[in-house]
Amino acid sequence: MNRKQFLHSILGTSLFAACGSAQAETHMVVYKTSTCGCCGNWVKHLTSNGFVVEIHDVNDIVSEGRRLGVPDNLRSCHTGSIAGYAIEGHVPAADIKRLLAEKPQAKGLAVPGMPVGSPGMENGSYVERYSVLLFSEDGTSEVYSTYGG
Ligand code: CU
Ligand code: CU
Repeated sequence: MNRKQFLHSILGTSLFAACGSAQAETHMVVYKTSTCGCCGNWVKHLTSNGFVVEIHDVNDIVSEGRRLGVPDNLRSCHTGSIAGYAIEGHVPAADIKRLLAEKPQAKGLAVPGMPVGSPGMENGSYVERYSVLLFSEDGTSEVYSTYGG
């Protein structure tokens, strides 16, 4: 390797590193119960949208959610964590990507309950009207996006 090639390789490496650090987090930890079918379908939705999911099957999903700061009234069947945010329930991958891009001052996103037609809860063509909520440390929340009709 001559000096010019050497400089190119150094430059290439540092440019790659700069791009890498600007990239959004894709590693998500998910807590669910082993018997939850719709949880597994939601995980498939995430992986097919580029997320790398680390699954933890647990007995007590409520205490995991509380530990991550999910308000009890926003509960669903599984809870997750990515880049310091909690992700509760059947949240679409698009909303998680938006969250990671915008990085709002918030605790996380939640889709309370299990709306029919949300990712992992598909039922043919019907999508029940539901909202993705952005919730804060103090338990307040605001609508982040709405689906279905
Ligand atoms: Cu579910
Ligand atoms: Cu679930």
